[in-house]
Amino acid sequence: MAKENFLTSSIGKKLVVGLTGLFLISFLVVHVGINSTILLNDNGETFNTAAHFMSHNWVIRIMEIGLLLGILAHIFMTLRLHFENKSKRPVGYAVIDGKANSKWYSRSMTLLGTLLLIFLVIHMADFWLHTKKALYITHENENSYLEVKEAMQNPLLLVIYIAGFFSLGFHLLHGFPSAFQTLGLNHKKYTPIIKAAGTAFSIIVPGLFAAIAVALFFGLV
Ligand code: HEM
Repeated sequence: MAKENFLTSSIGKKLVVGLTGLFLISFLVVHVGINSTILLNDNGETFNTAAHFMSHNWVIRIMEIGLLLGILAHIFMTLRLHFENKSKRPVGYAVIDGKANSKWYSRSMTLLGTLLLIFLVIHMADFWLHTKKALYITHENENSYLEVKEAMQNPLLLVIYIAGFFSLGFHLLHGFPSAFQTLGLNHKKYTPIIKAAGTAFSIIVPGLFAAIAVALFFGLV
């Protein structure tokens, strides 16, 4: 039998998924915070200042590498857990009535995560690659606000984004409280508070992203 260390153990993998999940949640707070400045309707001035700071500050640049590694570790460990659980449970959920024990989105985390990944690939190809090209290759001065506004005129992109925000919301609805549970934070008094905070977060953050995308599409900002 292969020797098992902490990271290859089931609890080790769950901890990596939980910790990277919380790290990605903290990224979302910053990302939605900066993006929400678009709603100030100041012709993207605040948004461009923030975007310029984020792409030129060296501490943020180092954290960006951590973010990409965090996303990869989160996906890799989740998929390993998913396929291991499947192989350990060849009869599937037929014996245990999964529907009675959990919500559909809790049973669909891998599917929701995959939809989110498709959104992320399209999103990064659109904005991130563009920003990095301007920063490291062409050395152009970017107007991130105009780029985002222009990209959001495409109705297909709007639909893909809204679908991505729905996947994000349901992924967070399970993932947010689940990450705290994995860390062992199971408490009579605090668990309901964490669950309520998770529900609020899962509605507010994707809701704000959607409001920004819709406002840009309809030319409201
Ligand atoms: C209205 C919605 C959104 C807009 C307008 C938007 C805009 C942007 C822009 C302009 C960038 C490039 C930043 C840069 O590198 O300078 C970016 C990067 C990124 N976005 Fe979004 N975003 C949106 C929603 C989301 C959502 C929902 C997620 C995650 C689920 C997400 C994840 C990311 C990631 C991971 C990066 C790369 C960050 C980095 O490495 O710097 N975005 N986004």
